[in-house]
Amino acid sequence: MYGLLLFIHILGATIWTGGHIILSVVILPKVLRQRSPEILLTFETDYEKIGMPALVVQIIAGIILAYRVLPDLSKWMNFSNPVSLGIILKLGLLLLTFVFALDAKFRVLPHLSEDNLKDMAWHIIAVTILSVLFVLTGVAFRVGWFY
Ligand code: HEM
Repeated sequence: MYGLLLFIHILGATIWTGGHIILSVVILPKVLRQRSPEILLTFETDYEKIGMPALVVQIIAGIILAYRVLPDLSKWMNFSNPVSLGIILKLGLLLLTFVFALDAKFRVLPHLSEDNLKDMAWHIIAVTILSVLFVLTGVAFRVGWFY
């Protein structure tokens, strides 16, 4: 069960973090060079179909994995416990990801044009950095930095 959960969590990470790195490093420079919101919208529309389910899988598998390392929810917000700190970091990264994603979805994307492409670019870069920090925090669990 643990092996399967970790496999699903790592697979989800390859889609979420991998997809955002491709968006930031390959798609975004082209969008900004050609000042083309269309290129971005095409990628976002296609990627979202697999990206959003991957994020949902990450949250569900992640919470089960977190419960496995600390099977007492009342201890999850204990800043003096290093394992809780790892879980707090993951939940904090998740909250920040939601804030940027919701702001992009409801404020930036509905009016996406050549004029606010830079605003959207900063949202994409922020979510990409957060996605890499998710992986780093996960690896920190793996190599025992929180134990
Ligand atoms: C997009 C979001 C996420 C990504 C990309 C991500 C990525 C990863 C990666 C790459 C690992 C290392 C797997 C390994 O040991 O080889 C990991 C482990 C872990 N993640 Fe996540 N994660 C995400 C969200 C979450 C969330 C929301 C939680 C829950 C609070 C969470 C909890 C954990 C835990 C507890 C581990 C350690 C598992 C163990 O070693 O037993 N993750 N994560």
